[in-house]
Amino acid sequence: MLRTVRIAGTGSYLPEKILTNYDLEKIVDTTHEWIHSRSGISERHIAAEGEATSHMAAAAARRALDSAGLSAEDLDLIIVGTITPDMVFPNTACFVQDQIGATQAFCFDVEAACSGFLYALDIARHYVASGTATHVMVIGAEKLSGITDWEDRTTCVLFGDGAGAVILSAAEHGRGIMKTVMGSDGRLNELLNVPGGGSRHPASHKTVDDRLHYMKMAGREVFKHAVRCMSDAATQALDECGLTVKDVSCIIPHQANARIINAIASRLGAREDQVFMNLDHVGNMSAASVPVALDEAVAAGRIKSGDIVLFVVFGGGFTWGATVLEW
Ligand code: ACO
Repeated sequence: MLRTVRIAGTGSYLPEKILTNYDLEKIVDTTHEWIHSRSGISERHIAAEGEATSHMAAAAARRALDSAGLSAEDLDLIIVGTITPDMVFPNTACFVQDQIGATQAFCFDVEAACSGFLYALDIARHYVASGTATHVMVIGAEKLSGITDWEDRTTCVLFGDGAGAVILSAAEHGRGIMKTVMGSDGRLNELLNVPGGGSRHPASHKTVDDRLHYMKMAGREVFKHAVRCMSDAATQALDECGLTVKDVSCIIPHQANARIINAIASRLGAREDQVFMNLDHVGNMSAASVPVALDEAVAAGRIKSGDIVLFVVFGGGFTWGATVLEW
C-alpha cells in the first residue's frame, strides 16, 4: 500500500549581497520604474565570489533538517533541482551530501529549469510513498548570476541566486501531497535556453565570444505560455483532487514575474490574499523560487496545519507543473 507523504520541514538560504534595481541602473540602460512595473522585482540576492550552488543548497538543507528535527544521517536520498550545477559532473546533490554529512543518502540532480523543484518533489514523493525511502531532501538551488548576461538588459534585471529545501517523510495523518500534474513541450526549447557548454556547442573560445553560455529568452512568448500552462495545470490538479480554488489557503507560484502571477490568479479566480509572492526582494530564482517562497510563507505564518496549498511552476523546455497538498 502506498504511504501518504508530507513536507516535514523547510529551509532556505539567500546570499548576503543584494543587488537593487538602482544598482542595475549603473550596469545597463534601465530604470527601477521599468523593472518594477514590468516584473514586480525591486532587488535580488547575488552569490559571493566562490559561492557555488551546492554551498547555498547545503545551507538551506541544514535549516530544513533543523525544522524537521532530523539529522543528515537520517536522509536516504537527496535530489537537487537546478540548471546551474557546480560542475557538469559530479551532480550537485553529491556535493550537498558531502557538505552536510548525509552519509546514508544516494544523490542525483533533476534538470527541468524553473520546474526542477516540482519535478524533484514528485520523484521524491514516489520513493517515500512506496517505502523505498523514509526521509528525502528535495532542494531547488540556483546561481543564475553565473549564466546571466550582464550586458543584456532584457534578461539581467530578472534573475537572482538562492536555495530552498524541503524534507519529505511519511505522514501519520492528513492527506499530505495529494496530486501533481506535469507537462513538457520540447518543441518550444528555443524560447528559453542556455545554448553553450553542452554537447551541441561544447565550450570553446568561439562559444564564449558568441555569448552562448548566457540565458537567452523570448520574453513575450515565454510570458504567454507561462500564463496558459500554469493556469491549466493548476486547474487540472485541483479538479483531480475534487477541489476548487476556493479550497486553497495558499498558492505558491513560480516567482518569475508579478504580472504573470496576477494573470494566473485572475484566470483561476483566486483572491490576492490567497497568492504568496516574494519576488519583490528575490527576483526569479528558477528552481529555487518555490521552495524559498514556501519557507518564507511558513515562517510568516501563512500556512497552517490542514491548509490546502498549491504550487504551480513553469520553465524552459518548456516544462510546467502543479502540486496540491494538505499541510
Ligand atoms: N529596461 C528598460 N527597457 C527595457 C528593458 C529594461 N531592463 N528590457 C527591455 N526593455 C525595452 C525593450 O527594448 C522594448 O523597447 P522597444 O519597444 O523600444 O523595442 C521595451 O522595453 C518593451 O520590451 P518588451 O520585451 O516588449 O517588454 P515586456 O512588457 O514584454 O516585458 C519581460 C519584458 C519583463 C521580460 C516580460 O516579457 C516577461 O516577464 N516575460 C516572461 C519572462 C519570464 O518570466 N521568464 C522566466 C520564466 S521561466 C524561468 O523562470 C527561467
